Amino acid sequence: MPETAASRLIARKGAFRDALLGWYRRNARDLPWRRLPSLYRTVVSEFMLQQTRVGTVIPYFLRWMDALPDFAALAAAPEERVLKLWEGLGYYSRSRNLHRLARELAALPEIPRSPEAWRRLPGVGPYTAAAITSISFGEPSACVDGNVVRILTRLTADPARYRDSAGAAKALAPLAGQLVPAGSPGDHNQAMMELGATICLRRKPLCRVCPVRTFCEARKTGPEAYPRIAPKIIERRSIVRAWCVRRSALLLHRAAAGARRLAGLHELPTAEQLGLAESVVRKRPLLAKRTRSITRFRIAESVHAVAFKEESRPGGRTWAGGLVWVPFDKIDSIALSGPHRRWVKEILALQAV
Ligand code: ADE
Repeated sequence: MPETAASRLIARKGAFRDALLGWYRRNARDLPWRRLPSLYRTVVSEFMLQQTRVGTVIPYFLRWMDALPDFAALAAAPEERVLKLWEGLGYYSRSRNLHRLARELAALPEIPRSPEAWRRLPGVGPYTAAAITSISFGEPSACVDGNVVRILTRLTADPARYRDSAGAAKALAPLAGQLVPAGSPGDHNQAMMELGATICLRRKPLCRVCPVRTFCEARKTGPEAYPRIAPKIIERRSIVRAWCVRRSALLLHRAAAGARRLAGLHELPTAEQLGLAESVVRKRPLLAKRTRSITRFRIAESVHAVAFKEESRPGGRTWAGGLVWVPFDKIDSIALSGPHRRWVKEILALQAV
């Protein structure tokens, strides 16, 4: 085998692991799921941490553990309760999958221990399967996410240009796998996550205090150049929504229970859901506006005041299913997606003055 940066790192893997683990054990953040760890706490935290930062997850995790302390409580909880506890965390299919997972585990004769078996459960991809089984069962399986890709491409000054982060994760999985120790794979994986989150930062890595700087081939030339991943192609979208009030109730759209995204969650209705042309709704008074990014979409949304007149619905067109009038005094108890909760609060505050 020709000597490559990866093979040089693997040749020193014992020293690398020791440096990383020693640092982690001295510096690990005190995170609630690391206290009194249990399979349930690990599973819930890993689902919440998919696509969401640690700081955002902490209050949700604590609230969730108070409300649903174990798999049995989660399996027995109604869908609305689960959704309400997830409200504001986004990517709602995660909460639905977590709920289904609790019910599927309850039906199994025993709890699976291998990453392959966990991957057959709802919402569990390679990263989550490796995280859960390494932390809970000591399975020597490597977690590879954006943090780990960044660390490994810097350690090896990897010149490869990847099409996207999923492609990079796949290409780097064998190297990540070789670095995982059989002895404490859960701590090793968490140490890699911790290094990526606190030291090997995307823009300004803190190389001077990095515990594995002596293993890093990019340190001298500039680690910021790695990983080399083609920029995402951003698609712009716009959504026009209506604020429609009748007798102290607000018109909302509730996504069908089986919908792929937002199942069961309420949102302000779009022009399309009301059977109105976007150009018509856009002309109504603007109440709120914002732009947000979801995956590769950049979405500009505006909310307009639309007077509700039943008889003025365009002839022949019917409303899409799922439209519901929610009395203002019930809005706090239903599950609204995060930005919509903020919009409703903002618009009501504006109207109160
Ligand atoms: N991101 C994903 N899993 C994590 C964990 N267990 N600790 C910190 N950050 C994480």
